[in-house]
Amino acid sequence: MNTSRPSGIDQSQAPFFGALLAYRDAGIIPFSTPGHKLGNGAPPELIDAIGMAALGLDIPNGGGVDDTHRTWGLQREAEALAAGAWQADDAAFLVNGSSTGNIAFLLAACRPGEKVLVARNLHTSLLSGLILSGAQPVYLYPAVHPELNLTLDVSPQDVASALSDHPDARAVALISPSYTGVSSDLREIARICRQRDVILFVDEAWGPHFPFHGSLPPGAVQAGASAAVTSIHKLLAGLTQSSLMTFGGELLGRDDVAPAVSLIETTSPSALIAASIDAARRQMALNGRALLDRTIQLAMTARSRLRSVPGIRVIDESVISGRPGAGFDPTRILLDVEDLGLTGFEAEALLRKHARIGVEMSDLTGVIVHITIGDSRESVEHLVRGFDWLARTQSSARSSVVIDSQLRSSGSVIYSARPAISPREAALGRSRAVPLQDAAGEISAEIITPYPPGIPVVAPGDVFSPECIDYLEAARSSGMYISGPGDPFLATVLVVSSDDKAG
Ligand SMILES: Cc1ncc(COP(=O)(O)O)c(C=O)c1O
Repeated sequence: MNTSRPSGIDQSQAPFFGALLAYRDAGIIPFSTPGHKLGNGAPPELIDAIGMAALGLDIPNGGGVDDTHRTWGLQREAEALAAGAWQADDAAFLVNGSSTGNIAFLLAACRPGEKVLVARNLHTSLLSGLILSGAQPVYLYPAVHPELNLTLDVSPQDVASALSDHPDARAVALISPSYTGVSSDLREIARICRQRDVILFVDEAWGPHFPFHGSLPPGAVQAGASAAVTSIHKLLAGLTQSSLMTFGGELLGRDDVAPAVSLIETTSPSALIAASIDAARRQMALNGRALLDRTIQLAMTARSRLRSVPGIRVIDESVISGRPGAGFDPTRILLDVEDLGLTGFEAEALLRKHARIGVEMSDLTGVIVHITIGDSRESVEHLVRGFDWLARTQSSARSSVVIDSQLRSSGSVIYSARPAISPREAALGRSRAVPLQDAAGEISAEIITPYPPGIPVVAPGDVFSPECIDYLEAARSSGMYISGPGDPFLATVLVVSSDDKAG
């Protein structure tokens, strides 16, 4: 692994993207995958929809784009440029999303039974990594905003004290920024981890833009993390599923993670997706600062105009007041619509149907929208007009959904399930379905994540507490979106069969 960060390299190159174009321009007639053969065999309606230009670039890497010997030389060059742009020592392209990076990290860093400190607002892919690796999680519980039921940061003090309680932990895995745009004090947490030679891994899926603008929180590896994964497709211009792993320092390198990536990633990696990472990197390395200046300005305009729409509450940076070192991404806009008498789900459906607005996600009380480098004054205007319309037409709406006071609960309730066995034992062992109300004291075999708070109230291996059953009952009767369980209506839940409990 490189130990000095690549610098002074010419970021105006895009070697992998260039190679894909050169392959196209060479006029090679492929006798290889994909079967549509540069679009020639594609159904007319598909050609009509996406064009021959896109189909002509839809080829797997290794099929001659890089070289014919699969040395991945040009991809490595492109990855070195990405490392430079993200201020990391090394980087790896991923074409199956950050989900792959999360799983690969746990497979690479932890042997079965080894401990890892994992933030409880973990994405389902980190949980998949826990199941596949057999690592034993010790959960770190991010702060929860007392009124908004919103997950905030994990504090350095909590990490330090968990590491003191678990000196045998191999790694710390955090989600920063959180889904709601709050970042943890990664500089301080990285310092604490390095002092103890513990790997700090950050799921930075929602922060690919951070290193490119000084008014945003720092990028994870830039702040001192050993490794991070970020979704180029989520908030930058990469194609869907494009993602990047970055590495810094000596504790975990690209070569340590590569075998795990090849265990789980497709064997036909899309050259087009990889090329889009290279192109998006060049765009940000050359113009990121200016693009993000404009984006942040647009987000601020959207925030201030939405704030004046009656019945819409814009969640702002004040959510992290009193949380030193925590950061906030202003481009991620959380809008509470409860005062309109609507749930977030209802607002999402109305906005889509009547105002041609697609939101990132909705929950019981609000919606999230992002402003990115792809927005413009016109798109922000459209957004504001849509919410204006919502407020005018729905001001006397009375949702049929009654939000149970349980659902405004504090972290102590949503964090009340405690792990008893590893996620691997619980998820892969024998299970049986029991009615939710009979689950107290049972060990869950599945993940149950209601929105809000969008974090697992129960993960595989956790014991159901009476409080979390009450919360889930209230969530069910409010018609809340519940991600993860086999029965999304929660009439029954899957619990570990008693024979497997002892495990
Ligand atoms: C926190 C977090 N991590 C990881 C992922 C997975 O990212 P990808 O869609 O790139 O696989 C997501 C997806 O929403 C996420 O929210």
